[in-house]
Amino acid sequence: VTDTAAAPAAKTPTLPDAQTVTEVKHWTDRLFSFRCTRPASLRFRSGEFVMIGLMGDNGKPLLRAYSIASPSWDEELEFYSIKVPDGPLTSKLQHIEPGDQIILRPKPVGTLVHDALLPGKRIWFFATGTGFAPFASLLRDPQTYEDYEEVIITHTCREVGELEYGKELIDSIRQDELLAELIGEGFADKLRYYPTTTREESPKMGRITDLMRKGEVFEDLGVAPLSPEHDRAMVCGNLAFNLEIKDMLEEYGLQEGANSNPKHYVVEKAFLD
Ligand code: A2P
Repeated sequence: VTDTAAAPAAKTPTLPDAQTVTEVKHWTDRLFSFRCTRPASLRFRSGEFVMIGLMGDNGKPLLRAYSIASPSWDEELEFYSIKVPDGPLTSKLQHIEPGDQIILRPKPVGTLVHDALLPGKRIWFFATGTGFAPFASLLRDPQTYEDYEEVIITHTCREVGELEYGKELIDSIRQDELLAELIGEGFADKLRYYPTTTREESPKMGRITDLMRKGEVFEDLGVAPLSPEHDRAMVCGNLAFNLEIKDMLEEYGLQEGANSNPKHYVVEKAFLD
């Protein structure tokens, strides 16, 4: 009891850019999320990613790009990850526990930011799999609701269990009193959630791309198909999905934007290890 200095010393980071894991949740055998401490110096825009990882067996940091899933006002950071059995990083990262350290390079970058889009009426967030992560940040950012009249998030996964992280997040946002206070009580009505599965039965089955081609999405949500006049979009998923939906957005007349040249939509690859 007299030697209280020993406890904090044991927690002193020894890795370069070390942060301490505070919480880990396993959602399925393929998916987990975790939270960690946030460097005091880290400022980021919702939707951006950072390099995180672990020390490799060769003594060199093994890093990958991870979207920050937490909002910029959160005092901790949250990440949502796949577990790949033979993935160089995730085969190890999936075993982290509270108190463990990870490496986090505090240099956020990325294209899925509000600054890369022109003002519009409705924003679409299109995600597959772990591509939901940047939207978990953007959906908790008051600016998303201040900038748009309507916010639509679609999430396509193979199985129902893979939707759970997103579903719980949407539920918590709808009940978030702080967001309600910041942007007004009605903000939750602006948020539309459209989950679909492709390999396990659920209320809405099919790839979002196919459901858009058939017009089913627009019918279900009671909105017109996308137009450059009203609609803005952010896309994050696997490569084939990104390419396919990009073509579709171009067919609707939307053009790809960038930080330096804001337009109608932006795309980023979900992390797959
Ligand atoms: P599918 O089961 O038909 O391949 P993954 O887990 O492999 O990253 O896939 C996540 C989700 O993205 C799956 O539901 C998958 O559907 C879907 N998907 C894969 N490729 C495309 C694509 N080109 N367009 C739309 N959805 C896709």
